[in-house]
Amino acid sequence: MKRHLYSVAIAALLASAAGAANAENLTVYCGADETWCQQMARGFEEATGITVDMTRKSAGEIYAQIKAEAANPKGDVWWAGTGDPHLQAAEEGLTEEYTSPREGELLDWAVKQAEAGQHRTVGVYSGALGFGYNKDLLAKNNLPEPKCWADLTKPEYKGQVQIANPNSSGTAYNTLATMVQLFGEEKGFEYMKALHKNINQYTKSGSAPIKAAGLGETTIGIVFMHDAVAQTAAGFPIVTVAPCEGTGYEIGSMSIIKGARNLDAAKKYYDWALSAEVQSKAQEAKSFQLPSNKSATQSPLAPDLSTIKLIDYDFKKYGSSEERKRLLKKWDDEVASLPQ
Ligand code: G6P
Repeated sequence: MKRHLYSVAIAALLASAAGAANAENLTVYCGADETWCQQMARGFEEATGITVDMTRKSAGEIYAQIKAEAANPKGDVWWAGTGDPHLQAAEEGLTEEYTSPREGELLDWAVKQAEAGQHRTVGVYSGALGFGYNKDLLAKNNLPEPKCWADLTKPEYKGQVQIANPNSSGTAYNTLATMVQLFGEEKGFEYMKALHKNINQYTKSGSAPIKAAGLGETTIGIVFMHDAVAQTAAGFPIVTVAPCEGTGYEIGSMSIIKGARNLDAAKKYYDWALSAEVQSKAQEAKSFQLPSNKSATQSPLAPDLSTIKLIDYDFKKYGSSEERKRLLKKWDDEVASLPQ
């Protein structure tokens, strides 16, 4: 009898081990804000039963991690974060070529992002760059309301402005590339040097400056406008500004990591994340980007990109490996090194 029970127990153990081995897993590197990253991870688990191991990092950090792990990839999907480092990863062969059956459901700019990246990436959302300020702190310090990029370099805003470091943050790299495209390279870097004098901290994450402004830790945060709107929606005294000179924008993207160990699950996630149903849920995570699926809905609070003066941002150029490396090195050498 004992022998029988023993063999039944072993069989049960082997069956559960086999089940566990067959259970699908997925490792996602997430470049949006934490709440949205969590909503996407849990949502995919509920929809598919696939266990998701998600970590949130800034876009520049995820790019660096995927590059460092290229010989032994740990991640399967890179979802969200600005499109520039996604394009650099695509150019460097760090991401898998894959065309979703849902590509036909996407807006043109999202398909153009895929084409710019040889279909090793795709656009999942868009948003305009700008800044936000704490109106209570501004009034308390008797400061004029900033309306233009040029305002942020004025001496009265010394120590009042925060932005992320362009090496780690896709938001801050998008800002650097925007200034170069808006004013030309020489004047663009002159702008970044003048702005540097007013910066109280270069954060790691792109949305941190406006969260700090919401808490009154700084007056002005340079971020994507939807991140400033999110702070206002959360009840903080933040005013969102579309800079008068015009501004850049991002194409938040998604890529399957080259050599992904869970390639089938990664493709399932890719197709799932492009669906209108999933993209329409962003507003529940207080995310106000413009979704890439034509049929997706967004919060009425989201900035209306059609009313904002946008530059014709050259994603192919500023997402290229050579140009991104060159601009980041130039920023390190000529801006970050200056006294404040
Ligand atoms: C926030 C924004 C996203 C953007 C991301 C970039 O999460 O809501 O639209 O893609 O920042 O993050 P990073 O930390 O790389 O600037």
